[in-house]
Amino acid sequence: MIRKLLVSEVSQVKDLIEPFVREGLLLPKSLYSLYTSIRDFWIVTGDHDRTEVIGCCALQISWNDMAEIRTLAVKKECQSSGIGKQLVDACIREASELGLKTLFVLTYVPEFFKKAGFSEVDKATLPNKIWSDCIHCQYFPDCRETALIYHLEG
Ligand SMILES: CC(C)(COP(=O)(O)OP(=O)(O)OC[C@H]1O[C@@H](n2cnc3c(N)ncnc32)[C@H](O)[C@@H]1OP(=O)(O)O)[C@@H](O)C(=O)NCCC(=O)NCCS
Repeated sequence: MIRKLLVSEVSQVKDLIEPFVREGLLLPKSLYSLYTSIRDFWIVTGDHDRTEVIGCCALQISWNDMAEIRTLAVKKECQSSGIGKQLVDACIREASELGLKTLFVLTYVPEFFKKAGFSEVDKATLPNKIWSDCIHCQYFPDCRETALIYHLEG
């Protein structure tokens, strides 16, 4: 089941992303930053245990026409069954309802996002204001992520 994140589930999201943070695939998120950005998050819960969070993804608005897909993670044992795509699609739908024009993502899994309809772009084409979080990354300023964008219709 896909739905918005509840405050009572924030610690589960922290535990879910932690292994991927350790692998350097995701930026670390403090509990404080998760609570303050809770309304950005979509989650998927387990089929058998509806209280278990098995996937998460955030849509963070950057400016009047642009938002970023962030903190996308699916529990290792639940990967490859369409959950990541489901989460990105929910963010795309929400972005469209909000009247946004463009989504972007910085990622080490560009092929996953290409399958979801995103196109690779030169990082230098993204507006400077989106880089504020990058100073927290262990690879800053030598970013090795790929930038991709998705144009919303309308
Ligand atoms: C990337 C991630 C979210 C994908 O989640 P998932 O639930 O396994 O992906 P899905 O099952 O929805 O895959 C959808 C499609 O993308 C493909 N895909 C998934 N991961 C892929 C990858 N790493 N590279 C290329 N294609 C990939 C799938 O094969 C599937 O293709 P299909 O439609 O032709 O069958 C998951 O692997 C993950 O949590 N990775 C670690 C954290 C991470 O890197 N997050 C991205 C941060 S931007």
